[in-house]
Amino acid sequence: MSNTAPPPDYTSANLEAWEEAAPIHWRHNQARLLKAFSQPGFSCLDETETRILKNLGIAGKDVAQVCCNNGQELISVKSLGAARCVGFDGAQGFLDQARELAEAAGHRMEFVCCDAYDIPAEYAGAFDLVTITIGVLGWMPDIDAFFAAVARLLKPGGAIFVYEHHPVVVMVKPAQAGKPVEWELSYFRKEPFVETEGLDYYGGETYDAKPATSFCHRLSDILMATVNAGLSLEWFEELPDHISNTWWNVEASDIGLPMSYTLVVRKPD
Ligand SMILES: C[S@@+](CC[C@H](N)C(=O)[O-])C[C@H]1O[C@@H](n2cnc3c(N)ncnc32)[C@H](O)[C@@H]1O
Repeated sequence: MSNTAPPPDYTSANLEAWEEAAPIHWRHNQARLLKAFSQPGFSCLDETETRILKNLGIAGKDVAQVCCNNGQELISVKSLGAARCVGFDGAQGFLDQARELAEAAGHRMEFVCCDAYDIPAEYAGAFDLVTITIGVLGWMPDIDAFFAAVARLLKPGGAIFVYEHHPVVVMVKPAQAGKPVEWELSYFRKEPFVETEGLDYYGGETYDAKPATSFCHRLSDILMATVNAGLSLEWFEELPDHISNTWWNVEASDIGLPMSYTLVVRKPD
């Protein structure tokens, strides 16, 4: 018999916390998004995401988004001309919102509720492109296993597009615009963060929430996870752009920290 305790099941606990946040996000966003997506061709994608997707040539491609939340980005991808679009997320409450938004946009799309580490085998090798965007990698306790799972979704020659918060900015204490930038954490921190004040990054409402645990991954961990998954680097760019609802102090300062990055990695033919 082993004395070693099993590792905590971070992902199921996190999914409960996300499920709890879904009706709160719905209150802040759904009416506005339903109105927006009922306009033909509406896209919520910013300039960077649109540029990379257009460069990748998504028209007619089969696209998946892992951790798609309310589907707003994937619905926008569909409006850019993608063929089959499948969104995966572990919180059913967000997928219900996604289905309603896709219907408002007039798109036929699939939304599948599952853990990102355990996507049903029927989706293996089904996609030309998988997107992972804005606030996903930090929820993954094992970054190598995550990219291995996502790489399995690709057709030969298919690509993964990552658009994420830069891990350097995560080390800065979040604050209102105008507050000084205060370096809080080591870039080499290994311990996870546990938040119990909720995941309302739209309204800023705090509540007595189920615990949500997030993880620090260095850029080198992320790049090596893609290499270990058998993918090759095609594009990597660090950007000064703020893509979260958190680090307004860094955005307002002229300190010059990288705030986001784009990455494209490809499976061999
Ligand atoms: C911050 S959102 C990011 C998605 C999107 N870019 C957005 O801006 O809405 C994170 C999403 O990841 C999902 N998630 C977190 N851990 C997951 C896991 N292990 N499996 C599946 N989904 C997960 C959550 O349910 C949540 O919808």
